[in-house]
Amino acid sequence: MSHHFTPSGILQFGVFFQGVNSGTIWKLPASGSQTDFESFRRIAQTAERGLFAAFFLGEGLRLREHLGRPHELDVAGRPDAQTMLAALAAVTERIGLVATQNTTYNDPADLARRLASLDLLSGGRAAWNVVTTDNAWTGANFRRGGYLDHADRYTHAEAFVETAKRIWSSWEDNAIADTSHAPAWAGPGGIRRVQHHGAHYDIDVVPGLPPSAQHRPVLFQAGDSPAGRDFAARQTDVIFSGHPQLEDARQFRRDIVERTIKAGRPADDVQIMPASEFILAPTEREAQEKKAWVRSLQIGPQQAIAYLEQFWGTDLSAYDPDGPLPEIDPVVEESDVTRGTAFMGVKARRLAEEWRTEAREKGQTIREFVTARSARFDSSFVGSYTAVADSLTEYARTGAVDGFNISPWLIPTGLDDIVDHLVPELQERGVYPTHYRGDTLREHLGLRAPAPVPDLAVL
Ligand SMILES: Cc1cc2nc3c(=O)[nH]c(=O)nc-3n(C[C@H](O)[C@H](O)[C@H](O)COP(=O)(O)O)c2cc1C
Repeated sequence: MSHHFTPSGILQFGVFFQGVNSGTIWKLPASGSQTDFESFRRIAQTAERGLFAAFFLGEGLRLREHLGRPHELDVAGRPDAQTMLAALAAVTERIGLVATQNTTYNDPADLARRLASLDLLSGGRAAWNVVTTDNAWTGANFRRGGYLDHADRYTHAEAFVETAKRIWSSWEDNAIADTSHAPAWAGPGGIRRVQHHGAHYDIDVVPGLPPSAQHRPVLFQAGDSPAGRDFAARQTDVIFSGHPQLEDARQFRRDIVERTIKAGRPADDVQIMPASEFILAPTEREAQEKKAWVRSLQIGPQQAIAYLEQFWGTDLSAYDPDGPLPEIDPVVEESDVTRGTAFMGVKARRLAEEWRTEAREKGQTIREFVTARSARFDSSFVGSYTAVADSLTEYARTGAVDGFNISPWLIPTGLDDIVDHLVPELQERGVYPTHYRGDTLREHLGLRAPAPVPDLAVL
């Protein structure tokens, strides 16, 4: 087993179809809507034309609310990820299908069965992005309510994922009888019962599905705390990270390699694909102009006000988005539930004062301030096709990442220039695949076969 990390020299792309946020522009006549299958189909098929390894969907099980109404930064109506991916499986051939699903509000036997179904029906192209979810308000949708603090969420996630892996390994090769000819569905000893008796679950499952062409769904993970990183290093195949900038990405890689080795796995066993956005054009100048246009559409007047409302905790709709920041103090709600990252640990009054001062000094309106602030967390690569291809080649050479999970900023054409111009440049440089390596997602990513799971009681 290698304790030394060697870069593969190849980058893989995924498409992170966000839909529900202010970073995605739905304003073209052809954009369709969030619930329109055509919008998803076009993006997925373009990605497949560009040999993308995966089509990736996030998930939120409850609509975000703000001041008693749906949050203006979100688009209401996000279809269920697995249902959408099952439909996409029928109109694509090779691309992997990644469903984000949280461990906090799902149940292991049920989710394992649904993901195995997607994996079987797609010919071994499914993946699960394992998240714990950083908010408790989702709990209001569920019988058990909001529950589990941060530390418990990961011990719970680990029991969940281990149980799912055992369920996916429970059928021997001889278990599935040929449907039309065999006398019995399952041969003796072919199926193992999965029991888990622990602090979080007490279940006894007779799994109902055979392994898929890639054995079991590939596992992604997104969650950046030390506990989240250790969980990824122990349990998963790919990290969807928030570290796209080169130095930060290299540091993150070093950290993950260390944790992966500590978990008893080869140094390159956990791949890393950061979230990213690409704004490209033939020349640098055109790319910068395009960026300004994209940003002006992403942060419209309503989005700018809604962004501030998150921190002010009150209705700011009377304020002019092209005027100065509100002079009033934020209304801070005392609350024992986490309302999402924007609310976490924010000293709202001090923050508002700092922001007002900053905007005043820079002469920025609300909209200009919010646009500039969003850029501070920028995960975008902006430039000419050749310059961005050169920059990505450096990522491949240093092994900072295994690829990028790319958010198209425009629906439905936001990937076109990546596929038509960037991909050929990368292929010329020898850092991007020229064909799909196989039929399954595991093969596209070059992942090893899953490690065997501990022995189980034979049924
Ligand atoms: C890049 C990224 C994407 C995420 N996407 C989702 C998502 O789609 N749905 C969700 O419920 N949580 C998502 N999460 C949140 C994680 O579930 C996790 O709860 C959160 O990051 C807190 O865990 P941590 O403290 O380990 O970071 C995402 C996190 C990251 C870093």
